[in-house]
Order: sequence, then structure tokens, then C-alpha cells
Amino acid sequence: MRWGRLLWINCLSVAGVLMFAPRLSTSLARLASLPGSNPPVRGDMLASPDVAALLRRACYDCHSNETRWPWYSRVAPLSWLIAHDVERGRQELNFSEWPAYLPVTRKRKWQWIERVLHEQAMPPELYRLVHPDARLTEQDITLLEHWLQGQLGAGQISQHEE
Ligand code: HEC
Repeated sequence: MRWGRLLWINCLSVAGVLMFAPRLSTSLARLASLPGSNPPVRGDMLASPDVAALLRRACYDCHSNETRWPWYSRVAPLSWLIAHDVERGRQELNFSEWPAYLPVTRKRKWQWIERVLHEQAMPPELYRLVHPDARLTEQDITLLEHWLQGQLGAGQISQHEE
């Protein structure tokens, strides 16, 4: 009886591994090929030079197709973590895809940016630790907040095609 159950559990776990292994290895392979690769830049969000420079400095590594991949982003398992962040970051907000976003989407992304600034959630803590230059000072945050209020208030739709 006990052996029967054990055998059953074994079968189930083997089946589980067989079911998920291909998916796991393809997602690892995908993540492994990401470091160093940047999809084409189709455009950018138009902002004043100081705001644009700030976003580039603090956000573009994960939220654009212009990621500066450091050498350690090619060393596993760190490479997977970094690639995963970039992949997720680009999915949520990609300044290089900005012209393709609908006006409502842009508005939503601006509101999101407002929220993460307010919560000081971005850039992520670990990234800030490794990239001290990406930390936002109070002045930076004020500048970004003013810019966001302008975008949201006036309902302006800035875009810039390459
Ligand atoms: C190290 C990579 C990295 C950097 C740098 C970074 N982000 Fe993110 N960001 C992410 C990841 C990963 C997510 C999605 C997962 C999450 O929500 O934590 C995300 C999500 C977001 C979202 C979506 C909101 C949400 O709650 O999911 C916004 C908005 C955002 N980031 C704004 C910014 C801004 C603005 C900066 C620069 C000041 C920035 N990020 C810098 C990795 C990064």
C-alpha cells in the first residue's frame, strides 16, 4: 500500500518534470540569449532634454531597447536575473515603443510612473545599489513630477518617430 502510493507520487513528479522541463529550458534559453541584444529602436518619447536625460540615466536600461548590458550580464546565473528584469521592464513600459502606444496607454503609463516615483519603487533597489548614478534625488523627482503633471494635465501627446 505504502509502496503503491510512493510509486504513484514518483510517477506524478516525473510527469511534472517532463511537462515543465521543455518550457523551463526554452525560457532559460530565451533569457540566456537576451543579454547584449537590443531590439530595434522604433522611436522615443519626446521630453525636454533634462527630463529625457534623467530617464535615460535611471530607467532606460530596463525600459527601452537601448539597454547598456554590463559584462556581468553575460555571466549565468546573474545574466538570467538581469535579462528577466529587462524583459519584464520592457513589457511594462518601453520608451522605444512609445510612438506605438495608444493615447490612453500613454496616459496610463504616465500615471504608473507617477505612482512608482511616489513609492520610490523605481529604479529597483538592487539596481540603485549597483548604479549609484541612477538614484533619483529629490530634485530629480520634483522635475519628473512637474513634467508628468504637464503631460497629464494638458493631455498632450508627445511622440517622436525616429
Ligand atoms: C533594473 C531594471 C529597472 C530599472 C532601471 C527601472 N525599472 Fe521600472 N520596472 C522594472 C521591472 C522588472 C518592472 C516590472 C516588475 C515590477 O513591477 O516590479 C518595472 C515596472 C515599472 C513600471 C510599471 C508599474 C508597475 O507597478 O509595474 C513603471 C511605471 C516603471 N517600472 C517605471 C520606471 C522608471 C520611471 C524608472 C526610472 C526612474 C525605472 N522604472 C527603472 C525594472 C526596472
